[in-house]
Amino acid sequence: MRVVSGIQTTGNLHLGNYLGAIKQWVALQDRLAAEGGESLYFLADLHALTGDITPADLANSTIEMAATLLAAGIDPAKSILFNQARVPAHSELAWILQGTARMGWLNRMTQWKDKAGKNREGASVGLFTYPVLQAADILAYQATHVPVGEDQKQHLELARDVAIKFNTDFGVELFPAPEPLISAAAPRIMSLRDGTAKMSKSDPSDQSRINLVDDDDVIATKLRKARTDPEPLPDSWAALEGRAEARNLVTIYAALADLPVQDVVDQFAGQGFGAFKPALADLAVAVLGPIRARLTELLGDRAAVAAELARGAARAQALAAPTLRSAQAAVGLQI
Ligand code: TYM
Repeated sequence: MRVVSGIQTTGNLHLGNYLGAIKQWVALQDRLAAEGGESLYFLADLHALTGDITPADLANSTIEMAATLLAAGIDPAKSILFNQARVPAHSELAWILQGTARMGWLNRMTQWKDKAGKNREGASVGLFTYPVLQAADILAYQATHVPVGEDQKQHLELARDVAIKFNTDFGVELFPAPEPLISAAAPRIMSLRDGTAKMSKSDPSDQSRINLVDDDDVIATKLRKARTDPEPLPDSWAALEGRAEARNLVTIYAALADLPVQDVVDQFAGQGFGAFKPALADLAVAVLGPIRARLTELLGDRAAVAAELARGAARAQALAAPTLRSAQAAVGLQI
């Protein structure tokens, strides 16, 4: 089993990233370190170039997000942590795979449609070909599994299509079709302001998300102000159908506590959100507080974080190099 996943370096990491992706990454790294197998996690700084960036923000964000991953439990002794730009194989393979991916496939991507909106003519070309670089990120390592939140499912399907078409077109067995591993506990954490929108770094309202850098008071205030309904919690999870905000808060509680949602409902049945929200805030603070403390410590030595990324990149490049060479040979490039 070889696991690869990445995170785009724009803005802050939030609770959706943590519960939907990073918690799984840590669990998988621990499992693979014990069982044999590799896990590779990276900061997708090249993907960040597809949106509006400020060079200083991009550079800072890469180090800060790397430090956040380390603080959240990614351990370079067990997994390979690096930034994408330092491993040229990603870009080189992405170009080769642009010959395989079809315009029609990319045109169907909902992220492209959402982010470009009505302004397709003015969108960057990179925003359109974004999923091809994502396919290269995965296929460069012949990854078998990709732990992601549900919102990345469509990009994963595209990576599978690219892998299969490349193998078929060139008569090789080079790329395994990667399987998405979508968190069962937190496939899609929703905004605190709107239970129908996902929690996202691009939401203009900071009240909509809990950032991993938020302090205890901010976490408690955001949860107290989170949108809910006036009804008490029912005694079964199924009875929360149609109460999107309530379901989201119960899901967050369950994922933070590593409990099944029904156990949480049992615990709070009959109580209103006036009682539930402070309990959720205490739990969130208890889980996120230690991560934030480690993060502050790590950011005291940014050079050490950068050095960790450089070490990870050298290891990643060594793993990707033979696959890239095979892809170049398969298409007839003389390298
Ligand atoms: P990104 O940076 O948007 O998100 C990183 C990870 O967090 C998950 N996630 C969520 N999970 C549950 N609920 C939410 N509200 C939520 N918001 C985000 C995402 O699903 C993701 O797993 N294109 C990718 C980055 C990427 C990548 C890759 C991922 C680049 N190359 C190769 C996997 C493999 C992205 O923008 O994720």
